[in-house]
Amino acid sequence: MTVAPTLPGAVTVRVPAKVNLELRVGPRRPDGFHALATVYQAVSLHDDVSIARWDDWQVVAAGTYADRIPTDGDNLAVRAARLVAERWDVDERLSIRIDKDIPVAGGMAGGSADAAAALVACDQLWGLGLDRDELAELAASLGSDVPFLLTGGNAMGSGRGEQLAPVLARGTFHWVFAVSDTGLSTPEVYAECDRLRERDGVRVGEPQISAELMAALRSGDPAALGAALHNDLEPAAFSLRPQLRELRDAGVEFGALGGVVSGSGPTVAFLTESHEAALDLSVSLAASALCRDLRRARGPVHGAQVVPVARTA
Ligand code: C5P
Repeated sequence: MTVAPTLPGAVTVRVPAKVNLELRVGPRRPDGFHALATVYQAVSLHDDVSIARWDDWQVVAAGTYADRIPTDGDNLAVRAARLVAERWDVDERLSIRIDKDIPVAGGMAGGSADAAAALVACDQLWGLGLDRDELAELAASLGSDVPFLLTGGNAMGSGRGEQLAPVLARGTFHWVFAVSDTGLSTPEVYAECDRLRERDGVRVGEPQISAELMAALRSGDPAALGAALHNDLEPAAFSLRPQLRELRDAGVEFGALGGVVSGSGPTVAFLTESHEAALDLSVSLAASALCRDLRRARGPVHGAQVVPVARTA
């Protein structure tokens, strides 16, 4: 990843991406969100968000996907920082540098990750001493996935995804992520999910995580986890982007233990047996020309954390 120079006195926070091991989508709620049951895993694709005092708000984008993020007030990291400034009456403006290595609009919570990182960075820079609950409340107001990016690891999400509970899990898992050139809009994917359900007369009840997935995580068995991967948004993502189905099927044919669209897509996540198997799968997928951008990662990893100054110098 390209590293842009850091401003003096900056605080840098490193934050991971997420994959949904299972995503069950329930009915649409009166507030427009869908009731969810999901199991998140944080994976080792990271953004670094650095903030420093500045005479106006500014976003500087660097890294792999720098050209694909907004650098105005729409940027979730800016919204997060402004929220903290307003809430705690801090009359300061910030330069926010984002080293972007998490795919953008890919279903891996890249924007949410930057919001989580900005919250942690502001807390540190302004010495606010926010506790876990205060951070989680701010995070939830910024997006359904943001609280999980604060904690990382493996966790179960309910409500609209923002209410977290710990999950018993062991082991490290090895992933290949097939990243698309153009993103998918999360609201559009949920809307397509509703449309398909309506068209097919599908009625859904309260979403629940499967016993198979929980058992797979408890045992740390990658083959069992690969077989248990599931995403209710996948038919909607396939409907909007039919080539994703071909990509998912190819990865499984090339030896992945399981393949699933990550979140609202279009990134397809493949679980493999080992680091070596992940390398092999990347080579096969690259040769198939179905996807040019393949990223390997392991999970779980921890959530947003301040990077000690010596490591950024
Ligand atoms: O919470 P977040 O900002 O990530 O949500 C983006 C959009 O995704 C929402 O505006 C909504 O359209 C959809 N969504 C949903 N149900 C959820 C989470 C997100 O319908 N539980």
